Amino acid sequence: MDTLDSDTVVSLDPDQPFWERFYMVAPLVVIGTQNDDDTYNLAPKHMASPMGWSDYFGFVCTPRHKTYRNAVAQDVFTVSFPKPSQVVLASLAASPRVGPPEGPRRKPSLDQLPTRAATEVEGVFLEDAYLFLECEVERRVDELGENSLLIGKVQAVHVDKKALRVSEQSDNKTLRETPLLAYLPPNRYASIDSANAFPFPAGFEK
Ligand SMILES: Cc1cc2nc3c(=O)[nH]c(=O)nc-3n(C[C@H](O)[C@H](O)[C@H](O)COP(=O)(O)O)c2cc1C
Repeated sequence: MDTLDSDTVVSLDPDQPFWERFYMVAPLVVIGTQNDDDTYNLAPKHMASPMGWSDYFGFVCTPRHKTYRNAVAQDVFTVSFPKPSQVVLASLAASPRVGPPEGPRRKPSLDQLPTRAATEVEGVFLEDAYLFLECEVERRVDELGENSLLIGKVQAVHVDKKALRVSEQSDNKTLRETPLLAYLPPNRYASIDSANAFPFPAGFEK
């Protein structure tokens, strides 16, 4: 079998950082966790996904981040899926911390973020997002390089009524009225307000 055509394809060194050399499509979520002083933390993550068809959701986070330490300490986290109109709010949640090196170091930008309380777990959501998950930490996979995968079991799901799919006919209307926020790492985002039906093969079953 022929190998990839070196006239059109370049091979990168996997031992060197390579994810920033091209674009991909990712979601953008805001993870909520509780600090040890009863205040809450919010931080954006794009390496995040359902973990299968059932009630698991995972995200990748470095243990250097408060999000990881809080989720591991409290065993719960929330997930908010912001709308494109909230991209600045999601970004603000990644503002640098201020304070003495030996702590407590705060993220003052969080004071600007409107929040709503979760119902099943101790936590908050980003207000006006379109999808909200409340998760209990189920397991974690550490030492994926400098990162870890935190997997939660979903305890509650809340969806903006306008984002809820009610019939196939209304799918495009739903997207038009409630566009989705896509993150294109490492530095772009897109608002998706239309999409084509996927050309599933005849007889396809998931
Ligand atoms: C658009 C965007 C996407 C991000 N995605 C991730 C991610 O998937 N995983 C991660 O560990 N950090 C990610 N970060 C960085 C952190 O979430 C961010 O630095 C945050 O402030 C860490 O805060 P914390 O210490 O409160 O957890 C992302 C930042 C931005 C701006």
